[in-house]
Amino acid sequence: MMIYLDQAASSFPKPTTVADAMVKAVNEYGANPGRSGHQLSKCASAVIDKTREKVQKMFRNQSVDRVVFSLNATTALNQAIDGLSWKRGDHVVATTFEHNSVRRPLERLKKEKGVLVDYVRPNEDEKTWEEAILNKITSNTKLVIVTHGSNVTGEIIPVESIGVSLKNSGVMYCVDASQTAGVLPIDMEAMNIDMLAFPGHKGLLGPQGVGVLLVKNHVNLRPINVGGTGSHSEELEQPKIWPAGWESGTLNTPGIAGLLKGIQEVEKRGLSTIFEHEKSLSIHCIKGLKKLPGIHIVGPGEEENRLGVVSFYIDGVDGLEVAMILDEHYQIAVRAGLHCAPLTHESYETSDKGVIRASFGIYNTKEEVDQLVAAIEEIKDGLLE
Ligand SMILES: Cc1ncc(COP(=O)(O)O)c(C=O)c1O
Repeated sequence: MMIYLDQAASSFPKPTTVADAMVKAVNEYGANPGRSGHQLSKCASAVIDKTREKVQKMFRNQSVDRVVFSLNATTALNQAIDGLSWKRGDHVVATTFEHNSVRRPLERLKKEKGVLVDYVRPNEDEKTWEEAILNKITSNTKLVIVTHGSNVTGEIIPVESIGVSLKNSGVMYCVDASQTAGVLPIDMEAMNIDMLAFPGHKGLLGPQGVGVLLVKNHVNLRPINVGGTGSHSEELEQPKIWPAGWESGTLNTPGIAGLLKGIQEVEKRGLSTIFEHEKSLSIHCIKGLKKLPGIHIVGPGEEENRLGVVSFYIDGVDGLEVAMILDEHYQIAVRAGLHCAPLTHESYETSDKGVIRASFGIYNTKEEVDQLVAAIEEIKDGLLE
């Protein structure tokens, strides 16, 4: 049996209810939601509506209509970023932790539209995230976009205090909750978040193929995809009706039905139980790895509040080779390399070597972490002999 420690990429396994709901959707009501008036189409729509409501309540978005389903976090983030109207000289503040799903859309805006982008992190002078971000804001700043949790180091960024400090600034605030949705509480009202993006397939325990963008009522967003919306078919222009106008094409009904079950499992366990479990595994892992000479943990240590993501490198040993041996010889799945977040590696000076990342989920155990640490010790000794 494989030990799966790549939960930050996609959670696995899923609760059995997820696949059951997907099979039911395909076999029993596999019609097009929101397109036809018949019973099967209504049945598909009802499951989507229920999931939409569940998501709206969980993250406290103002309106259920502004829960937009997409393919993954990347499409949700592209919609959030590209959907705003940009002109030369507009300015964005982001963090050095941003995933390429934020960085590449921003870099494209920079190149094609002359938008200016600052990537920040706390430093000697600006000791907090709020200071680092607020100090960069100018009269041209249109968007602050922040990842809630680093997919490389497990560091948690204080999105609530950042949001509160941006209140009344007139700057749009978007949060990438890819590593935290289903792990940490997120309240768009209290945190003053205008747009929130996340995938269904990580902490929310849903299947791959569903992402979500939540948008507050005042945000004016141009749909990045236009096409069939199931209504106003005679009009040439995309209807400005939420959510359909931002969800052109047929939705992933089986995926959304599965996501509902994933979220129900998260609710059953409780966010704090999930967070404490994953955090305790990361602390156990760091403590075990630290006993081995020549191993360096990248990011917050065991004393800090952190997600269940641990990255490390071994002096003189190639991380990709270690990940390959873990996979082939020890049946342990981890991820090595740059994890689509090159700026994070620049700031930790790990761009040349990358890191080995182990990430933990609800079904992982301390025994599995012990097996990882024991395997790392053997591999290290073997490769350095
Ligand atoms: C912080 C962060 N943002 C965005 C993404 C992109 O998610 P998806 O692959 O669902 O588009 C990831 C995925 O690893 C991530 O960790």
